[in-house]
Amino acid sequence: MSKIVFSADDMHPAAQAKIHELGYDLTVINCDDEVLLENIIKIKPHVLIVRSTKVLEKHIDAGVKDNLKVIIRAGSGYNTIKFEYAGEKGVAVCNCPGKNAAAVAELAVGLMIAADRQIPAAHFASLEGKFDKKSFSKCGMGICGKTLGVLGKGHIAQRVWAAGKALGMKVVCCSRSLTDELAAELGVVKAENAIELAKVSDVISVHLPLKEGTKHLCGEEFFAAAKEGAIFIDVSRGGVTDLKALEKAIDTKGIRAALDVYEGEPKPTKGAMFPEDLAALCKKCIVATPHVGASTDEAQATTGLFCAEITQEFFEKGTFLCQVNK
Ligand code: MLT
Repeated sequence: MSKIVFSADDMHPAAQAKIHELGYDLTVINCDDEVLLENIIKIKPHVLIVRSTKVLEKHIDAGVKDNLKVIIRAGSGYNTIKFEYAGEKGVAVCNCPGKNAAAVAELAVGLMIAADRQIPAAHFASLEGKFDKKSFSKCGMGICGKTLGVLGKGHIAQRVWAAGKALGMKVVCCSRSLTDELAAELGVVKAENAIELAKVSDVISVHLPLKEGTKHLCGEEFFAAAKEGAIFIDVSRGGVTDLKALEKAIDTKGIRAALDVYEGEPKPTKGAMFPEDLAALCKKCIVATPHVGASTDEAQATTGLFCAEITQEFFEKGTFLCQVNK
């Protein structure tokens, strides 16, 4: 019997080669919601792999009528998949924690420096043919010696701490699972909560999953506590930051925002536009990128190969690596 794998987003060539080598029948199509549904019905996959494409109840219902047994999120977050519903229907949802952490952390550090030194604005001035050294003669506070507040303590957060320390920053972290012992061992200062972290940080970097306790965690109260002119970086998950509250903080406190993720992100189809309100906010950010934290060749290869491993484990042993909805 053929073992059918369907990837609804581009997949790294190394991962495609691995799946072919294992003898599975692989189809890769860049889908939106509707195209995904049509193809689930047509292809009847046992394994569905997604990166950006959302998996809703209708996709799960269509899949379980045939073969669908596992949905793999080619990333660490899985809020784009109705994972609890999938569990009710007997479909395992697996993710790839940590596999793209280096790439996401690298983007966070890049955004921090870009935001402080106004790199995008200076670049655009240069593109206009201006050698505008005077306008950018005091274009940053300087990172060394400042306080970096990191929300979260997972794979990405830990890489951002390490980079911050290498840049001479004092690192403060807030995470419910960070014990005093671990903080001491890792050489970071523990903040009691997000508000306390906001009060002391010159740069804030968000590395939290979106779940009940984190939705709009960076909201009115958080930004009210933040220092005037602090840099705010979010490369985590749309919805952790309340974008309206952030916009107000940019307007009233000069918060310098660098964003990669947005609540209600537009569909990841080629040429998709930001909705008007999001576009207006992006213009107020120092830098805004379209959720590309994990978009390096290295990260996509590592993540894709892990998807192949999850697939192999399922077909050979009937078990699930990194299942999130047991
Ligand atoms: C993640 O959850 O790790 C990222 O959203 C992955 C991605 O953008 O591909």
